[in-house]
Amino acid sequence: MESTRVTIVGSGLIGRSWAMVFAAGGFKVKLYDIAQQQLTTALENIRKQMKELEESGFLKGTLSAEKQLALISVCTDLKDAVEGATFIQECTPENLDLKKKIFSQLDLIVDDSVILSSSTSCLLPSKLFTGLKHVKQCIVSHPVNPPYFVPLVEIVPHPETDPSVTERTYALMKKIGQSPVKLNREIEGFVLNRLQYAVISEAWRLVGEGVISPTDLDVVMSDGLGMRYAFIGPLETMHLNAEGISNYCERYREGMKLVLNTFGPVPEFSGEIEQKISQAMSEKVPAVPKHLGARREWRDDCLIGLAKLKKQMKSN
Ligand code: NAI
Repeated sequence: MESTRVTIVGSGLIGRSWAMVFAAGGFKVKLYDIAQQQLTTALENIRKQMKELEESGFLKGTLSAEKQLALISVCTDLKDAVEGATFIQECTPENLDLKKKIFSQLDLIVDDSVILSSSTSCLLPSKLFTGLKHVKQCIVSHPVNPPYFVPLVEIVPHPETDPSVTERTYALMKKIGQSPVKLNREIEGFVLNRLQYAVISEAWRLVGEGVISPTDLDVVMSDGLGMRYAFIGPLETMHLNAEGISNYCERYREGMKLVLNTFGPVPEFSGEIEQKISQAMSEKVPAVPKHLGARREWRDDCLIGLAKLKKQMKSN
């Protein structure tokens, strides 16, 4: 992995973040996009972010912002972009036909050793990679936004992915300071979104049934469950909240099943409940770019602080 050269395909929100994470790890990065203007904007944005992070002391890695920037180059020719690459991270829009087209273009020009990795949030590897000549080298590495501060990466192999590709991808993610997890097989939503959707759907039902207001529902997570979930997961929570898992199950299994059996069907996420939640959220943060942008900045500042705390606490 020492000689790893990374190519990022697509220089939008996620492509830029990956470029920054890899540069922080000391890797040379080639950023490819179809439009030169998009690349120019991406580089300007990366420079601005890195300078700000350096000033506030949150720049990752051991190199200065200037040195990290010098590791990133841009390119609008796909063949040139992948020349010498040992790891390619695709970050184009979430559209199956577009991604399939890009992977078949890559399939024609790459060698037998490069890893072809996709950032897709929800497209299954079997949909993306089946039929490619280099399918054994293909994998999904699903990041969480913003990857610079939220380190989780879900690594999801295609049924035909070579196990060594999974291992090499896992090792690379570790090396750049991300927190990879391996899925043993593909499944809709991977794991993060399955957990997230379980929470969202019960939140939706509780608000829809008038049990709690939308804003109070969010407080249950931000000042309740979420406080511990940044440090320990639901399974370790069980372990610690009793004298171990078995004791927890003994004490709470019937109660959990009783509650779970009262859960309603999958919500429609539309109509009156949507209106109600939308109104409550918009009263708090108006749904216009200025206010949403300011709130996102605040969220990212919180995540920076949390990342720092997690490092101090050595929580992993
Ligand atoms: P984006 O829309 O910000 O960026 C997409 C980029 O791809 C643009 O720069 C566009 O010019 C470029 N592009 C379009 N067609 C191309 C082509 N044929 N070849 C090369 N580049 C091309 O999208 P974003 O948000 O960065 O998402 C990228 C991927 O990351 C998606 O698959 C998305 O599901 C995934 N993802 C997104 C997250 C998010 O929160 N935005 C979180 C985790 C994954």
